[in-house]
Amino acid sequence: MKNESKTSGLLAVLKKDVVRPAPVWLMRQAGRYLSEYQAVRRQAGSFWTMCMSPELSVEVTLQPIRRFDLDAAILFSDILVVPFALGQDVRFEDGRGPVLGAFAGNDRLVQDIAVWEEKLAPVYEAMRRTREGLARDKPLIGFAGAPWTLAAYMLEGESSSDQRAAKLAGYRDPSRFTELLNILADAVAWHLVKQLQAGANVVQIFDSWAGGLTDKCFHDWVVAPNKRVVEGVRKIIPNAPIIGFPRAATQQGYEAYASQTGVDGISIDTATPIRWAASALGGKLAIQGNLDPIALIAGGKALDDAVDRILADTDGVPLIFNLGHGVLPETPPDHVARVVARVRGRA
Ligand code: CP3
Repeated sequence: MKNESKTSGLLAVLKKDVVRPAPVWLMRQAGRYLSEYQAVRRQAGSFWTMCMSPELSVEVTLQPIRRFDLDAAILFSDILVVPFALGQDVRFEDGRGPVLGAFAGNDRLVQDIAVWEEKLAPVYEAMRRTREGLARDKPLIGFAGAPWTLAAYMLEGESSSDQRAAKLAGYRDPSRFTELLNILADAVAWHLVKQLQAGANVVQIFDSWAGGLTDKCFHDWVVAPNKRVVEGVRKIIPNAPIIGFPRAATQQGYEAYASQTGVDGISIDTATPIRWAASALGGKLAIQGNLDPIALIAGGKALDDAVDRILADTDGVPLIFNLGHGVLPETPPDHVARVVARVRGRA
């Protein structure tokens, strides 16, 4: 169905309406490329302090909405709050990213909901306050890391290029590894439900490390755990709108994820042709993506052309305009404004 109105367009798209101009938001839309973010971060002293302070989290969540009038806000937080709730040490070091304490085994994970509730209370408080501070027609997005991506951080202790520690754990002791993924899936589903109950209108599951897996591993470690998360959320909130992001999956992987997990929308990474995604998946669920974050840095004709190509490639399909991965710190804010205007046919 064609809907020319912009009101809550993103929620309509997730019900498979074709909305033009397409709603637009950007992964990592709050962040270091904004001087107003840098100012808050200096004041807070650390990224983690910002995540755990409702006042600061609300402020940086709203900054890109004020500046660019994006069509949705995403709560400023991090996927590593779930390992933190489960009892693992999580730190962020400048220039290095996240650093986690040694993984002590499945049996040492804290599975006490009262503890999770207390540790993550600032996140839900930030969600409540953001919902209050946001225009009613702007959806608020909550999120979590998917079990496989979280397991990769928990076992590796930091970002890794090949997720070797998690893969080795999965190959050497499949039943213990599946047990870990199940624990994570249940904690993630709980965390998403709490965010929805605190005011999120949509949630996104980030499986940032879904690339480089065999067919079987992709099924066991990505598709099955994401399905468990979706089912866990829907058991409590049956109609919860959910977007999945199996980043760097193969086309077969994207197809399996789209048809088996139960998500309403699927985020397409930069390397996956969105024209293919629109025709193969766009009849079944909403398509989100997939502007190259580096084209967003470049700007100029390359950026305009890249935006136009995505819009042309997704003609007639439910589309949420976004990046293929997060906004990079070097991005000139003017280029973000340009993208929003161009998606809306005003530049
Ligand atoms: O999208 C948004 O604006 C909401 C906030 C958000 C952040 N992280 C804030 C953040 C979201 C949705 C995330 C998700 C996240 N966090 C993912 C999945 C998406 C992806 O990028 O693949 C992952 C893998 C993480 C873990 C994480 N957090 C890493 C690897 C890093 C370091 C990399 C970096 O950019 O410095 C972070 C830190 C982080 N998370 C920052 C922000 C704004 C930068 C913090 C800072 O230095 O100010």
